[in-house]
Amino acid sequence: MSLLLVAKKRDFSSLENALLEKDPNLDVEIWPRVDKKERVTFAVCWDHPEKVLGNYPNLRAVSSLGAGVNHLLDDKSLDDDVPICRLITGSLQEQMAEYVLNAILNYRHNFYDYVELKKKGSWEQKGIIPKDNTSVGIMGLGEMGKHVATLLEQQGYKVSGWSRSKKELKGMDSFAGKEELDPFLNATNILINLLPLTPETDGILDLELFKKLKKPGYLINVGRGDHLVEEDLIYAFDMGYLQGACLDVFEEEPLPKNHSFWNRKQIMITPHVAAITPAKEAAELLVENYKRAMSGMELLYEVDRERGY
Ligand code: NAP
Ligand code: GLV
Repeated sequence: MSLLLVAKKRDFSSLENALLEKDPNLDVEIWPRVDKKERVTFAVCWDHPEKVLGNYPNLRAVSSLGAGVNHLLDDKSLDDDVPICRLITGSLQEQMAEYVLNAILNYRHNFYDYVELKKKGSWEQKGIIPKDNTSVGIMGLGEMGKHVATLLEQQGYKVSGWSRSKKELKGMDSFAGKEELDPFLNATNILINLLPLTPETDGILDLELFKKLKKPGYLINVGRGDHLVEEDLIYAFDMGYLQGACLDVFEEEPLPKNHSFWNRKQIMITPHVAAITPAKEAAELLVENYKRAMSGMELLYEVDRERGY
């Protein structure tokens, strides 16, 4: 039995070491150098090559190397009865909450303008967007979203959240389902996307949605690039629905060099780094789920294939 690490481009050395430190008896293989395909019983994937999972007939489970699983659910070569799980760790949640808070502070305090002004040696005071005029709305209140909501509430922000089912979180207004999307948007200035990418949420961040936000509007997209209709973001700036955006994820990654977003001063770009699981923490959960899969137990953070997340 072996555990296979699969990615098109990734240095797996620190994860391999952390896995072996956690369980020295583990047989770890790294794609594409696989001795015996029949021995692979557990695969860990991130940006894996299309159809590669179909080559391993004895898979008992597959794990994402992150929180998102759309890359695994989209893989038609993976049998429907192979359970899929994902990585959720405390530091992933903490990093995400810090990233979002940092993006909000940079926006409210006009830091992106000061970066530009410094290049020109220009001393110009910009003021700040008051916190009590700012309503933050979080789309998706799962493992990431609820953590972000808690930190923002502790920081004194007015927070609301939108999910499929109603939530009870301290200090947060909860909106649920399609029928409550409009009132949620109408009450939101700073919109944070933390939805999973599913057929229902693909392209959800479009011009119609931006139009419904309270002004001034600002977008933080840390979900997936395909949630955003990229050209609608530009229209939303031009029409005054949004003042700016902080984007960590894109339709195509790496973001192509000639993409128009690079030249838009309203857009802050980070290269899909909002939350990255440290190898040691990843190894702990992966070894636990590997053992569970080998003994037929329920996996931790298993994905509901029907729901798509
Ligand atoms: P999760 O635990 O699966 O939570 C998903 C949330 O979205 C749930 O609250 C769910 O509602 C809600 N939801 C799903 N479909 C919906 C719909 N059609 N309408 C309304 N609400 C819907 O996901 P997570 O672990 O928090 O992660 C969220 C996403 O963040 C991931 O899928 C990944 O794409 C992204 N992510 C990005 C990074 C990064 O570095 N940029 C890092 C980690 C994660 P219910 O609670 O009612 O089911
Ligand atoms: C990162 O994007 C993740 O899904 O963990």
